Amino acid sequence: MYENNSAAEMYDLLYQDRKDYKAEAEEVAGLIREKKEDADSLLDVACGTGVHLEAFAGHFARVEGVDLSGHMLKVAAQRLPGTPLHQEDMREFELENSFDAIVCMFSSIGYLRTTQDLNAALRAFARNLSAGGVVVIEPWYFPETFLDNHVSGHALTNEGRTITRVSHSTRVGNIARMELHYVLADREGVQHRSEIDELTLFTPDDYEAAFSQAGLKVDYVEAAGGRPGYFVGTAA
Ligand SMILES: C[S@@+](CC[C@H](N)C(=O)[O-])C[C@H]1O[C@@H](n2cnc3c(N)ncnc32)[C@H](O)[C@@H]1O
Repeated sequence: MYENNSAAEMYDLLYQDRKDYKAEAEEVAGLIREKKEDADSLLDVACGTGVHLEAFAGHFARVEGVDLSGHMLKVAAQRLPGTPLHQEDMREFELENSFDAIVCMFSSIGYLRTTQDLNAALRAFARNLSAGGVVVIEPWYFPETFLDNHVSGHALTNEGRTITRVSHSTRVGNIARMELHYVLADREGVQHRSEIDELTLFTPDDYEAAFSQAGLKVDYVEAAGGRPGYFVGTAA
């Protein structure tokens, strides 16, 4: 996953016209301020290339990011010079500063494999939270909302590059297995890349139990447009 620079750069190209990062950051900042009006610091866990983080910087005085992938963080560092970015695993990080808000967007939590991992991640989030802080997780689909054998496709052209992405998703036990193929054409020629992405279909109970064992009270908030919604947690 995001195993090289070109995969990380392709990621940004693919989502730039499909995802309204600014609107999502505004929506999440609103959820945070409902629980903690004076929140002024935010950590984006699994921040990827930093597009949400850039938008969050418009809402919070101090922002930082965590991601496992050095390639994704390299792109984020170019986007956000001077913003502290940490290459860490979400299950076990401990940063110097604590945060009024910790978020984990775009279903990145689904890359965890087991409820033990999910519980460890929530404990790490709680450890890095300041008093009265808020955790917002945008989950992956639940077993009952995942569409088995779903196909999707997308193409876009920008600045002399055309990229297409097609995918087929299927359920294997509690895993959503997505086969993705990308074709990129630019001045150099045409490249093809494919990957298998696997995300865990945790249940709402799994998420709620993870918040609660980490000492956080949690609410689930629905989102518009078929998106998976948000879990919003505060210290119990
Ligand atoms: C789908 S991308 C989302 C990136 C970003 N949040 C966004 O909205 O564009 C998933 C990200 O999760 C990161 N990731 C996966 N497992 C992780 C882990 N255990 N700890 C930290 N980051 C992880 C990947 O490196 C990748 O950048």
